[in-house]
Amino acid sequence: VNDISKPLIAALKGQRVDPPPVWLMRQAGRYLPEYRAVREQAGGFLNLCYDPEKAAEVTLQPLHRYGFDAAILFSDILVIPHALGQNVTFEAGEGPRLDPIRDNAGLARLSTDRLHESLGPIYGTVERVAAGLPEGAALIGFAGAPWTVATYMVEGSGSRDYPNAKSWALGDPDGFQVLVDLLVDATAEYLIRQVEAGAEALQLFDTWAGVLPKHAFDRFSAAPIVEIARRVKDVHPNIPVIAFPRGAALYLPELARMPEIDAIGIDYATDPVWAARELQPHATVQGNFDPILLLAGGDELERRAREIVEALSGGPHIFNLGHGILPQTPLEHVERLIAAVRG
Ligand code: CP3
Repeated sequence: VNDISKPLIAALKGQRVDPPPVWLMRQAGRYLPEYRAVREQAGGFLNLCYDPEKAAEVTLQPLHRYGFDAAILFSDILVIPHALGQNVTFEAGEGPRLDPIRDNAGLARLSTDRLHESLGPIYGTVERVAAGLPEGAALIGFAGAPWTVATYMVEGSGSRDYPNAKSWALGDPDGFQVLVDLLVDATAEYLIRQVEAGAEALQLFDTWAGVLPKHAFDRFSAAPIVEIARRVKDVHPNIPVIAFPRGAALYLPELARMPEIDAIGIDYATDPVWAARELQPHATVQGNFDPILLLAGGDELERRAREIVEALSGGPHIFNLGHGILPQTPLEHVERLIAAVRG
């Protein structure tokens, strides 16, 4: 932990790094032919997540191809509900399916008893990646933030409006808090083990933070993220934590001021000039190139990448997308993006 000679770690520790370190959310994934080949062999997405040898291989594929400054552990946010005893499956082309939890009887079926047993293979992936990292690259561990993980647990799938999760959270906040507290416990333990296995930074993905009104954002997005970071830092004080509550730009200045939060991810709809002024004095800013423009390519790709680098050049910045890379992304556009960032 804390090798400041690595550009990603230097930026997370508050240094301006020129050019900024770069990695892309979902950089190990279906746009890479070498990923599709390994996934095929693994026979299913979750099998791949629980196969340390293959998961380590796909984690490192984008670094070997492009020379990114960071590897992000190949896994998924839904391994936590799975480890708590909920049934989780991924049907090809359909996204995740879970047996929904809607009430106390559902909550009673969850347990942390077999948490580390179930997550053991993932710690194995982290160890293998840490041992095989290219020089200068850092390893990022991650988990879903409790609110986003809870939306999948309660709805049983992806959703547009989260009617079940939101009505539980807004209508019976103390009841919903029981689920969030369980996720805080499990996620903090999970991330502590990832650090012990070799993760050098941690990211919490709160993909659906933007659907919550302010009071519920404070209680069910921000507070659990900060509590998880605090618990991890009680054990590993120097581990940098990146928070990525998507769609919640207006609430980020407050989160950026929390001492537990080292960096804030911004989505593509957030103005980087605003982020430089309102967030960067308090936290490293990560982001925020639009994955659709990476798909589209053309001269706008270079122009808009340089614009983000410029806007955030006055403080610590990690170049990334504003959401995950799309499966149809042409390989050479990724090459061009990195070249544009590195000038
Ligand atoms: O960034 C990385 O490269 C690391 C790996 C990673 C995956 N999922 C692999 C994955 C990470 C960090 C995630 C996070 C994740 N998973 C989030 C939060 C970030 C985001 O993208 O919004 C969410 C909401 C999930 C849940 C999830 N996993 C969904 C909704 C889906 C289906 C959508 C899709 O793209 O197919 C997944 C599947 C998934 N997770 C894939 C990958 C590479 C595709 C599975 C495949 O290979 O078929």
